[in-house]
Amino acid sequence: MINRYTVIGQPIAHSVSPDIHHVFGDLTQRRIQYTRTEATEATFAQVVNEWKQQGGLGCNVTMPFKTLAMDVVDRVKPCARRAGALNTIFMHKDGSLVGYNTDGSGLLSDLKTTMRVDPAGLRVLMLGAGGASRGVLGPLMDRHPAAMVIANRTLSKARDLAEQFDKDGTLSATSYETLADEQPFDLIINATSSGLSGEQLTLPSGLFTEDALAYDMVYSNTDTPFMTWARANGASQVVDGFGMLVEQAADAFVIWQGVRPKTRLVYPRLSHLRQ
Ligand code: ATR
Repeated sequence: MINRYTVIGQPIAHSVSPDIHHVFGDLTQRRIQYTRTEATEATFAQVVNEWKQQGGLGCNVTMPFKTLAMDVVDRVKPCARRAGALNTIFMHKDGSLVGYNTDGSGLLSDLKTTMRVDPAGLRVLMLGAGGASRGVLGPLMDRHPAAMVIANRTLSKARDLAEQFDKDGTLSATSYETLADEQPFDLIINATSSGLSGEQLTLPSGLFTEDALAYDMVYSNTDTPFMTWARANGASQVVDGFGMLVEQAADAFVIWQGVRPKTRLVYPRLSHLRQ
């Protein structure tokens, strides 16, 4: 039997999710057919339902439909509810659609297994207070960082997120202008979309501790403006979001197929995507 999945987004032509899931299928000996599907806001719900009717077993949802998708599923798992968005739909045998969010778990898996970084006890800075940030804050806070600061151009949005995700007084909000008053950070995550338009955030120097990791959630084969800035400003390690992309895909695969591919075996087989 062929297990059929798709990723729905706009634009979608450059998505590498099919490449990743086909390698997962090979490694786990499952027959996987994973395609790309374009939708608009007006057609999204219909596209999901057609996929189900055509025998699809699940789909991934990417920009800009992650929030909209919450209204299309019948049940929302806690991981998606607290992110306010989902990236994975499981199409149940009884016809119901169940929504999950694997972005946060994917980020944490990449930090842990590839970067050997556990946010527990670290000072963490999150740049941006949009959907990308919201999607990963819950799982990050679950690790109990020593401090988590959200910095955003629009301070009110950072404050809203801090209020929503703070459990024990370790989460606070700031603007970029007042970041210079903060103690240095062990982990700085860029969750803004500024780099997509080639724009550079205006950040003060002295933000990194000695062994700090700079993590751009965007997947890019060349340094993003944030990564360039981080290298010039003392980050000890600088990475893009390719690992997060693979790990969130592996977490979706386990929801669908009940087995998690060994991602360390996946990376060598995806090296052509990194050239
Ligand atoms: P996403 O779902 O990708 O997070 P979003 O909800 O539109 O998209 O949020 C984009 C984030 O990038 C926001 O934090 C945004 O800052 P504002 O809330 O102030 O708009 C941030 N962002 C985008 N372009 C930026 C820029 N040029 N400088 C600083 N922040 C930027």
